[in-house]
Formats: sequence, C-alpha cells, structure tokens
Amino acid sequence: MSLSTVSVAGLGKLGAVMAAVLADKGFTVVGVDLNPAAVDAINRGLAPVQEPMLSEYVSRNRERLSATGDIEAAVRESGVTFLIVPTPSGPDGTFRLDYILEVIRGIGRALRAKDSYHLVVVSSTVMPGHTENEVLPLLEEISGKKCGVDFGLCYNPEFIALGSVIRDMLNPDMLLIGESDKKAGDLLESIYRRVCDNQPPAARMSFVNAELTKISVNTYVTTKISYANMLAAVCERLPGADVDVVTGAVGLDSRIGRKYLKGALSYGGPCFPRDNVAFAAMARRVGAEAVLAEATHKTNRLHTERLGEFVLNLVDGDATAGILGLSYKPGTGVVEESPGIALARYLRERSVPVAVYDPLALPQAKGELGDSVHYAGSAAEVIDRARVVLVMTAWDEFRSLTPADFARPGARPILIDCWRLYQGKGFDTTCTYLTLGAGNRRAQTGLSASGAAQSAREHAAG
Ligand SMILES: NC(=O)c1ccc[n+]([C@@H]2O[C@H](COP(=O)([O-])OP(=O)(O)OC[C@H]3O[C@@H](n4cnc5c(N)ncnc54)[C@H](O)[C@@H]3O)[C@@H](O)[C@H]2O)c1
Repeated sequence: MSLSTVSVAGLGKLGAVMAAVLADKGFTVVGVDLNPAAVDAINRGLAPVQEPMLSEYVSRNRERLSATGDIEAAVRESGVTFLIVPTPSGPDGTFRLDYILEVIRGIGRALRAKDSYHLVVVSSTVMPGHTENEVLPLLEEISGKKCGVDFGLCYNPEFIALGSVIRDMLNPDMLLIGESDKKAGDLLESIYRRVCDNQPPAARMSFVNAELTKISVNTYVTTKISYANMLAAVCERLPGADVDVVTGAVGLDSRIGRKYLKGALSYGGPCFPRDNVAFAAMARRVGAEAVLAEATHKTNRLHTERLGEFVLNLVDGDATAGILGLSYKPGTGVVEESPGIALARYLRERSVPVAVYDPLALPQAKGELGDSVHYAGSAAEVIDRARVVLVMTAWDEFRSLTPADFARPGARPILIDCWRLYQGKGFDTTCTYLTLGAGNRRAQTGLSASGAAQSAREHAAG
C-alpha cells in the first residue's frame, strides 16, 4: 500500500486545509467534494474556503493537489482516505451520520474492487459508538472486506480553531487516534509524524474512548469559558472587582491554566455550542445525567440575554445600538452562533435600531439578519450612527481605534468594550467607557446595575 497518496473527502473549512497541509508535506492528495465549486477551486489552485494562509498553501502545492467529485476514483488512486464531511446536529442534539455513511458507501464500493490494503480515517466529529456500530459494519458490508485485514479504520478528530487551522494542524497538543487495530493506528501515526512540526504525544485507544475524548475536550473547554463568564457577571456587581485581575491569578494555578479563561462573551461557532447539547443527549441515552454540560449550555445562552438587557437600558427612545464584530471570533468570517449576531437579533426583536460592521463577515451576516439591521461600511460609520457601541469581536481593526474616533460634537457615545481592548487608553475622554466584568463603575458611584445604566445614559446625553 502506498502511503504517499492520500484522498480527503470533504473540502470544507477543515478538509480543504487538511488536503493542502498534507500536500505541503509531500503527499500526493486527491480531494473529493460534491460541491463542484470546491473541486474547481482546488484544481485552479485556489482556496475553496476562507482561512488564513490557505490560498498560499493551495497555490504552492498545485502539482501534488487535485480534486474530483468521484469518491470511488479517489479511493482507487490512494492508500488512505480521510473523511471530513459535515455531521450536523439532529433534532435531539446528537450528531447526524448520514453524510459520513454516504461517503462510506462510496469507499466501500471502491474497496470491493481493490486488492490492496486501504486505511479509512473518520475525522468528522461523531457520537460515541458511531464508528464501531455504524461506520465499520457498513464498510464491511458494502466492500465485502474485513476490517483489520483488508482495510484499517481509525477515528481521528482534529483539535483546531477556525482562523488558525493550519498552525493548529501543524502543532497539535496530541494525536487522538481511535483504531480498529495496531496496524491501522501505526500507519496513521506515521502520517502525522511526517506532517506535524512538533512531536505531540499520541493518545491511541478504542473508537468509543476516542469519540468520548473528542467531545469531552470541547465540553470541558466551554465549561471553563462559562466559568470565567460567571465570574465576570459577579464582578460587575461587586464594587471594585475586576474579572481580568481575578482570572489572571486563578489561571496561574497549574491545575487550572490561563487559556480560555477570559470573562467576556458567550462562546459561539460551528462546534462549541452544539457539543454540550450532544454530550447531554448522549448521557440521557445511556441513562446517565450530564448536569454540568446542560448548565454550561444554558449559562452560555443567558449570557447574551444579560448583555442585551444591559444595552436595552441604555438605548431608550429610538437610539441606535452599534455592533462592531459579527464573526464568532477574529480571523474568520463564520457567524454561526456568534454573540454579535445573537445580540443583534435580541435587540431587533425589541425594536432597537441596530447598525453593524465586521471586516470580513458582512456577507454571511446578511444571510442571518436579512434587512433587519443597517450594514455599515466601516467602524467609523457605526460609531457615527450609534448611541451605544459594543465591540463584540476582538478584530485587530478594532484594536486600532482611538479615543478621537469616538469624539462627537455635543454627545458622548457609550462604548462597551467587551474584550477590554482599550483599557487605560483614555477613551473616557471622548465617550462613556464601560467594560464587561468590572465592578469599578459601581465602586465609584455605588450604583446598582440599572443605576449604572442610568448614569451612562446621562453621560451619553451630556
Ligand atoms: N469547522 C471546525 O471548526 C471544526 C472543528 C473540529 C471538527 N469539525 C468537524 O469536522 C467536520 C467537517 O466540518 P467542516 O467545518 O469542515 O464542514 P464544512 O461544512 O465546512 O465542509 C464540509 C464539506 O463536505 C462536503 N461534502 C458533503 N457531503 C459530501 C460527500 N458525500 N462527499 C464529499 N464531500 C461532501 C461539503 O460540500 C463541504 O465542502 C464536522 O464533523 C465538524 O463537526 C469542524
């Protein structure tokens, strides 16, 4: 079996990057996608999705990277096939497997006619039990071949963040490999040893343990984010308290660590919000309770409402709320479950005029918000229109705003600096400057939360 030719089924946000990274490390890669635009983009040396550095990776590896719509041909040509197709959430919150099973049928048909060993790697996020109970039997049935003999099967999810997918793939914290047998795991690990710039530990185990590990990492990280957000909410009501000071110290404890411990906004994106729901649904199915996963999901939703209520207090009459940042994080145009979109919806449902701007995500935001909001062409336009301006995504473009950008004759806009980008930079000279997670306003004024809003309104009017 030749390990040097690899096929990648699914050329989306994750698969396109994996195909390009493998090609960059010297593998011959055949990408497969049902979407002709993705296939065409790869074959023309263009990135099919937005992701930093992807265009460069695709264009500089044209001679090793091609794409097709034909999964069977791709399997015939390669020794390994990675599956990175969607696994959307079903009505009960668990991940659907139909896209995977569709690809598995194609792989099975190709394997039936193939006489060399093939390694099949499921990289999409699937539910615990799926690989063993659904994927493996179908692959054996369609191919007429035996797993562990004629082909190997691995479950190998990626731990990447959109906006840094290439860097994350090249420098993972670990290689998580659920394997049908040692040969399959060894082969997959050897591919990663060629691809990774670092030397990550390999966590090799059964399918179900790997599936559970993947979803556990995400549910744990979101619980940590929610913990910091809970601290922020408390700090806002505790005179003199500052969440950044507290989490900065809490994170120094080596049992806790500093990453993902910033009390700010709800987590969003295509993965995090659905993982706690899926985890809780899975727990219920097996007769266990996942109270913590349910609480994390609930508290994440409440967090946006809490911010929305605060803004409502500031924009009486027909004053406009301005939202800077609609992608769920900087470096990506993805708006799925983004706090900026959720806040815009919350305010529009309560008839508050909303103006929005994002350096990258405006086209995607239009798909979510339609014509319910004003789409500004710049941050300056939002600041000009709005009484209250919230910085919801910590884009570099927003970091470079200055107090002068908020100077307006006869009025002081209210700036809510959700990520504390402007602390100590003199913004209170031109606007009413508020942050999330700090009780300092109330410490100065001794006001309640609604009193703080009243005070901010008065400043804004003045
Ligand atoms: N995006 C992330 O941040 C991320 C992170 C970790 C894990 N994941 C998981 O990776 C998987 C893929 O996610 P994504 O964000 O890349 O999805 P995506 O929607 O961006 O891309 C999926 C691609 O698969 C293609 N596809 C669908 N059916 C196909 C088929 N039968 N044959 C070939 N191609 C097909 C689609 O056309 C699309 O291009 C999901 O299970 C997701 O949960 C995603």
